[in-house]
Amino acid sequence: MEILGIDIGGSGIKGAVVNITDGTLVTERHRIVTPQPATPQAVAETVSALVKHFNYTGPIGCGFPALIRNGIAKTAANIDKSWVDIAVEELLSEATGQSVSVINDADAAGLGELRFGAGNGHMGVVMMLTIGTGIGSAIIHKGILLPCTELGHVEFKGDSAEKYCSDAARERENLPWDKWGKRFNKYLQHMEMLFSPDLFIIGGGASKKIDKFKDQLSVNAEVVPASLRNMAGIIGAACFAGDK
Ligand code: BGC
Repeated sequence: MEILGIDIGGSGIKGAVVNITDGTLVTERHRIVTPQPATPQAVAETVSALVKHFNYTGPIGCGFPALIRNGIAKTAANIDKSWVDIAVEELLSEATGQSVSVINDADAAGLGELRFGAGNGHMGVVMMLTIGTGIGSAIIHKGILLPCTELGHVEFKGDSAEKYCSDAARERENLPWDKWGKRFNKYLQHMEMLFSPDLFIIGGGASKKIDKFKDQLSVNAEVVPASLRNMAGIIGAACFAGDK
């Protein structure tokens, strides 16, 4: 089955048609710059343009960078505040004329990595962490996703953990990789203490630089970079729509 997967991010809205049986891309990935301000209306228009680019009709899976409950955005930590309480599924389905299923971006990436990437077929507890502007999380056990974990917002050093060790925090504070790696390690140790995952999969912008900080990591679980790179969210979102 082939499904259009979309990944909505702060700087780009990306999509590709995915064969959800084997996780391969049926089309090239296409990216459109996220409109600024990224209001619901403006983003809906961009998503609609992306769907038109692929000349696609059928179910669509879409990753979104906020807590999503029953298709509704409940938070807006790193996106336009006007998204809170917007029925994202409804908005995007109306804008595109297709049936759009919306899932948290990290949950989508976790699903993608588990089915076709670094966690392929893993039957234990897998924690995916996406390190970018914020920190996104997904927990998957025996192939089943526990959605909406939002572990970038556990309180850490008196604030949301993502304020302390996201990639944006590294850039903002101009931290060298080893120093940032030590911070991230503290966060990973905290996650390990709480959830004892067998495997951590690190995605998002920082995952490409894992060689620069992996020596700072001292958790017991294995830590691997996402292998689907920036396609994990698109592939996982398409799978999510296919599962429905
Ligand atoms: C949001 C999450 C999202 C993550 C990565 C966090 O600030 O709360 O929902 O998954 O950023 O985009």
